Amino acid sequence: MRPKILRLSVLATALALVGGASAVVAEPAPDSVAGHETARPLIIGHRGASGYRPEHTLASYELAARMGADYVEPDLVTTKDGVLVARHEPEIGGTTDVANHPEFTARRTTKSLDGVATTGWFTEDFTLAELKTLRAVERLPQVRQENTIFNGRYQVPTFQEVIDLVKRLSRELHRDIGIYPETKHPTYFRTQGRALEPKLVDALNRNGLNRPGAKVFVQSFEVSNLKALNRQLRVPLVQLTSSTGAPFDFTDTGDPRTYADLVTPAGLREVATYADGIGPEKIQIIPRDAAGNLAAPTTLVRDAHAAGLTLHPYTFRAENTFLPTNLRSSADPNAYGNLFAELQAYFAAGVDGVFTDNTDIGIATRTELRAAA
Ligand code: G3P
Ligand code: CA
Repeated sequence: MRPKILRLSVLATALALVGGASAVVAEPAPDSVAGHETARPLIIGHRGASGYRPEHTLASYELAARMGADYVEPDLVTTKDGVLVARHEPEIGGTTDVANHPEFTARRTTKSLDGVATTGWFTEDFTLAELKTLRAVERLPQVRQENTIFNGRYQVPTFQEVIDLVKRLSRELHRDIGIYPETKHPTYFRTQGRALEPKLVDALNRNGLNRPGAKVFVQSFEVSNLKALNRQLRVPLVQLTSSTGAPFDFTDTGDPRTYADLVTPAGLREVATYADGIGPEKIQIIPRDAAGNLAAPTTLVRDAHAAGLTLHPYTFRAENTFLPTNLRSSADPNAYGNLFAELQAYFAAGVDGVFTDNTDIGIATRTELRAAA
């Protein structure tokens, strides 16, 4: 088992599930990681406050922090000149205005991204200076039309700019705002000759963030890079999992194991040898029934806690299209439904944090939970 720095016992509050699912009593939450026990469950600003601003922009992170997020989450990729920048994937046609830049038309290409032929523009083909001439646009313009008024206003930020922002806002808001970076497509970037991990370790070292108690989690959907980072980092690591598929490094090396294997009791004990928590897809904790409503929780919270792992599921979003059927407000997929109720169900199931696009609703739900305790 990976040695933990300090553990504090905290009991998760029991809540009745709403919206038709059966009532449960939360499992005792596992002990928290040193420096991270300020609030429970943690509210993690997923791609910033991406429900309200184009994702992975300084404006999105700043809004999440001002809404009260405990952590902001940058996904990390790299430029041609080896600078870590915040984007959800290397292909930037869907989140920037690169298609409107004729000087970059010839950069459009097709690459195999984790075995999937992907056409577009890739960050590793742009220097940072070139990337800085682009502007971010809303990824989901049909769902989040209001966010499109911010199209063209913000640059693609570097990881260093995100760290600087978090430090500045921590001083201004008089609280330690955390940062929760994810290495995106680590095998892909290694095969491109631009491994992410040395840059990440260097950035955390240079900023005094590679130390016990630093308010940092590092996450990955792959396994081997987390195992390697475990030998270099002194901050907690989080193994991301999905309800389908397998870590691409497993696929790439012929390892037949899947994400389903990682979340068995034995798999979780193996994860605990190199990580401190898991970041599961939310339906791995509370599946949906045939009608699309929340069903009874799985044993994942209990099993992960038994292995000494925290759980931070993803992704909680306010629009009907992302919510269980009986928590939707109408047939309009883009209208807001009852995210409060979905979060209450997961808090009652005993999760230790949530990735959410709507930090304000996450904070409000947690505040109500505490008031009711
Ligand atoms: O990292 C947690 C969550 O963000 C994982 O999904 O695809 O949004 O990065 P994704
Ligand atoms: Ca992520």
